[in-house]
Amino acid sequence: MTEEQLKNIAQQLRKPEGEWGVTIGEKMNIGNKFINLYTIDALDIKTNDHILEIGMGNGFFVKDIFDVNHNIKYKGCDYSDEMVTRSKKLNERWVKNGKADFLLSNADKLPFKDSEFDTVFTINTIYFWDNPERILNEIRRVLKPDGKIVISLRPKSSMEAYPFVKYGFDMFNRSDVSKLLLEHGFTTVKHIEKEEPEQEVNGVFMKVETLIVSAQKKNQNL
Ligand SMILES: C[S@@+](CC[C@H](N)C(=O)[O-])C[C@H]1O[C@@H](n2cnc3c(N)ncnc32)[C@H](O)[C@@H]1O
Repeated sequence: MTEEQLKNIAQQLRKPEGEWGVTIGEKMNIGNKFINLYTIDALDIKTNDHILEIGMGNGFFVKDIFDVNHNIKYKGCDYSDEMVTRSKKLNERWVKNGKADFLLSNADKLPFKDSEFDTVFTINTIYFWDNPERILNEIRRVLKPDGKIVISLRPKSSMEAYPFVKYGFDMFNRSDVSKLLLEHGFTTVKHIEKEEPEQEVNGVFMKVETLIVSAQKKNQNL
């Protein structure tokens, strides 16, 4: 692959756009299946939970969230127009019955009221956060006082094997993410590490790991 192609892939993973963005979105549904399913498992969804996902891509895994519990409300936000449109289409059934909604928005300025959500989660987006402090402040703002954040990612040890990461990906290990959360108003940080099936990158099979980091919103009065 040429450097130009790698740069384009990196850009599309950061913000899928146009026809190719739709294709990249579909490829992500295959490549990111395990990290999505492991994360949904770790969300510990309860009846009546109000859940926000940041950067849901084309929303392919939203059905798996409703499979766990139909009696929840889900909102997804993504700053890619293409991904919001695809998500609405793929999840028409849940949008029509008022249980799901998808909004076009950057995570650094969320279009929600204070204290709206029980859980905010995000998968494979932290690499692209230009201003983590602003995003974490926004997540804290929209979380209920005892709300939970869940950030899922491929740790640096997995990510550095991908040839496109040199084009704008920030990489993290578990202590980097914990530090970020503890410094920005979260407490009781927990980690789950899972192995995914090997993935083929440029003809080489490589080990891929999922890292799930969760934490509680810190009560400012404490
Ligand atoms: C690599 S894709 C991951 C999609 C899906 N979560 C998955 O794991 O398969 C990253 C997604 O997050 C969105 N995204 C990245 N940064 C964002 C931000 N600051 N605000 C909103 N959406 C963002 C992108 O548009 C894209 O749809």
